[in-house]
Amino acid sequence: MEKKNYRDHISQDFFRSISETADKLGCEAYVIGGFVRDMFLGRPCKDVDIVTAGDGIELAEAVARKLNVHKVSVFKNFGTAMFMFRGWQLEFVGARKESYQQNSRNPEVTPGTITDDQLRRDFTINALALSLNLNHFGDLVDPFDGVGDLSRKIIKTPLDPGITFSDDPLRMLRAIRFSCQLNFEIAEPTFKAIAANSSRIDIISKERISEELNKIILTQKPSKGFILLDKAELLQRFFPQFVALKGAEYIEGKGHKDNFYHTLEVLDRICPNTDNLWLRWSALLHDIAKPVTKRFEQSTGWTFHGHEFKGMKMIPAIFTQLRLPLNEKMKYVQKMVQLHLRPIVLSEDEVTDSAVRRLLFDAGDDIDDLMTLCEADITSKNPEKVKRYMRNFEIVRRKLKEIEEKDKLRNWQPPVTGELIMETFGIGPSKMVGIIKTSIREAILEGTIHNDKEEAFQMMLEEGEKLGLHPVSKSND
Ligand code: CTP
Repeated sequence: MEKKNYRDHISQDFFRSISETADKLGCEAYVIGGFVRDMFLGRPCKDVDIVTAGDGIELAEAVARKLNVHKVSVFKNFGTAMFMFRGWQLEFVGARKESYQQNSRNPEVTPGTITDDQLRRDFTINALALSLNLNHFGDLVDPFDGVGDLSRKIIKTPLDPGITFSDDPLRMLRAIRFSCQLNFEIAEPTFKAIAANSSRIDIISKERISEELNKIILTQKPSKGFILLDKAELLQRFFPQFVALKGAEYIEGKGHKDNFYHTLEVLDRICPNTDNLWLRWSALLHDIAKPVTKRFEQSTGWTFHGHEFKGMKMIPAIFTQLRLPLNEKMKYVQKMVQLHLRPIVLSEDEVTDSAVRRLLFDAGDDIDDLMTLCEADITSKNPEKVKRYMRNFEIVRRKLKEIEEKDKLRNWQPPVTGELIMETFGIGPSKMVGIIKTSIREAILEGTIHNDKEEAFQMMLEEGEKLGLHPVSKSND
């Protein structure tokens, strides 16, 4: 059968250089994996994997010399080498036959043919290769009908899925991630094998797991991924707090919403409005403390009092468990979770200036993100209710803008500093400094005085007097 040829899709100069070098060294070379898959899907891809039935490191070094690249990173243990060329990342590896040991991801590797190498890849759509040798330049090598699976939108392993996943359990998450990113379905036997092997995810480092989780969160419809992770019983193994959101309990005929699906709906709803991974994480975690704060009260039914505060407190442990960064990103997520009810509560009452001022003060520069989260949180199926919330949010947004223009509270700095208080009254650091500062802040937030240096200074004098303090006269006055 005549081979399909895609030479026009690999027209970059470096492919020719690889081709000539491989021929000179007398070895076969192919471009394989994500680059070829993405070429068929029309997705941009700058990571190029080259596999050779020969020595990957030797080929990399020879190609680098030809391209005048001086810096090649060599990973002897893995038999791989890579370098950057004009914004492209070129990675070279020798074709391998591989089998992984039971309890680790470290493979036992022996040299193999291109077909051996394709067989040990994760999915048929990731096992596509184009030949680079001059005589076959651009020929498609597709022994498992990966191209067919691309058009059928199917994720399927080249080998028996049990073997592919037990070789490298991270692939179970990759299957779900690709299904989510590409909007493909996972073939039934492949999915069954994921469910059967789910406990093997425990040998994978949490960093790698979170990397995949983040990629799922960054897709257009992450709920699909989370539902699959749950169905395969993977989610329970590394993120049980999220699974605990599942289910709706009924007492005396009164139920509450299923917070697992509600949260996923919020996450999906926020996606068109933000690509910020941490705002998406905030959506995922905003109700995380509902299961632990849930109570049934005769008079009011189900309540989740304080879940925003408790949720904020739970986040460091979750971030630690998932090896997510324990830095300002985490603090941002904590802030979003803690404040997520504020705009709703505010819009339920009359929207007063002082409440808006307080919200602006607490949220600072993250106020727009907080509003985005709150809007996504409106998942009511009652159109009247949704309309009312949205209208109130509009009012909140307008007021926020007006007040910010007037009072500049976003990144509020006290107009009277502690130093100035101490200097004016000739006192050292003490409780009184704090009392005066708090009164000034409260007065500004309440709107009794403006966010203005002179007004604040005047108030400082009055508050000092109440505490029995008097301004000291400066010696050179
Ligand atoms: N691969 C694999 N098993 C893994 C990881 C990778 O078989 N656990 C193979 C696949 O053939 C994959 C290639 O290595 O296409 C490159 O892997 P990687 O760069 O991680 O993924 P891509 O498929 O390129 O996709 P993405 O960049 O979106 O992760």
